[in-house]
Amino acid sequence: MDSIIVTGNGPLNGAIPIAGAKNACLTLMPATLLSDEPLTLTNAPRLSDIKTMSELLRSLGAEVTSMQDGQVLALSSHTIATTKADYEIVRKMRASNLVLGPLLAREHEAIVSLPGGCAIGARPMDIHITALETLGAEIELKDGYLHAKAPGGLKGATHELRFASVGATENVVMAATLAKGTTVLKNAAREPEIVDLVHCLRKMGAQIEGEGTSTITIQGVDRLHGATHPVVTDRIELGTYMLAPAICGGEVELLGGRIDLLEAFCEKLDAAGISVEETEKGLKVARKNGRVKAVDVVTEPFPGFPTDLQAQMMALMCTAEGTAVLEEKIFENRFMHAPELMRMGASIEVQGGTATVHGVERLKGAPVMATDLRASVSLILAGLAAEGETIVNRVYHLDRGYERVEEKLGALGAKIERVKG
Ligand code: EPZ
Repeated sequence: MDSIIVTGNGPLNGAIPIAGAKNACLTLMPATLLSDEPLTLTNAPRLSDIKTMSELLRSLGAEVTSMQDGQVLALSSHTIATTKADYEIVRKMRASNLVLGPLLAREHEAIVSLPGGCAIGARPMDIHITALETLGAEIELKDGYLHAKAPGGLKGATHELRFASVGATENVVMAATLAKGTTVLKNAAREPEIVDLVHCLRKMGAQIEGEGTSTITIQGVDRLHGATHPVVTDRIELGTYMLAPAICGGEVELLGGRIDLLEAFCEKLDAAGISVEETEKGLKVARKNGRVKAVDVVTEPFPGFPTDLQAQMMALMCTAEGTAVLEEKIFENRFMHAPELMRMGASIEVQGGTATVHGVERLKGAPVMATDLRASVSLILAGLAAEGETIVNRVYHLDRGYERVEEKLGALGAKIERVKG
């Protein structure tokens, strides 16, 4: 298994490009199952999760061709060979459950393995199931698989999600595009990745209104056609790299960055004493003078502070002036990075969903273990500002969501290298 060695090397300066969003691409790709015509995605990120989704779609009979160094994906599901999403693929990546809605809509049946446990929480699918049942699906769990069918097709209905789940909103919106009649989805998730999905579906001929609000209305149509769509900027990759100059000092431009994708996060950076400016090409982030100030954070669904930036924000707070309280409200077990940061000399107390971080002058390099995607990059960020060498093990987690980390951070002057395992 690969590991990454980071050595604290002072302020970072320069410019790096931000890729297309993993969490948008992972819901855009299954949309190909809704039509027998080709779907082309541009600005696609080059990540192992995208490879896994390609493998899953191919196993269902779709064609997936990666072009232009992996940044263009040509997808086509002229015919669907099977409606079974196998455990061997699904267990590698939870987002595989996003084929459930499209398969039900197009083929009126789907057999999708339940993803199983995850490091950051139980992550059940009850919200997806209840919502799809309201659209007329019959769903039962057998041998670890969800067996879903909708004889005669799905029917539009009004439904309120018990929690604004991102995945459930995406599954229902995709399913409802081919349902008979109108679906009104209340308490829908408002994430930019969902807005991007709706923009793509509309290009495919879907009739949808209300994306980005809590109520999305979908008027079912008989069929969808092909389209070409650019994947939206990855706001989590963006936020992660905005924290690099914040934690080390310096000035960095994030090419393709947009403030509207991260307002709650940018407000916290401002309160911590970090400057964020819009430029022609993106965003410029700088920490010029002195230590960062401690700020409190509560993770919430969009437009609140994203849970996928909580670990990285904790890394920043480890060397802030004062004490920061971070509350994780989305996942029940998302502080696995805290004990690793403590190995680097951080002072953190975790109680349930609350972490209290007492800022220290400086962290010290140490060998640490990545436990999940966002935790792994928080350890890299901490290593950038630490004294000496930090060795981050199990970086396969990182490769799921960050393309070419060493190149991007290296271009800013970071001392970082990958050691092949
Ligand atoms: C998406 O996961 C993202 N993944 C996650 O990013 C992100 O953390 C999450 O949304 C929240 O923003 C992708 O888009 C592929 P949810 P998702 O359904 O859809 C509970 C990353 O690092 N819940 O909004 O799975 C659930 O357990 C990943 O890139 C139910 O109880 O998130 C969780 O506590 C990690 N029942 C909460 O809701 C359900 O049926 C939010 O989950 C569904 C969800």
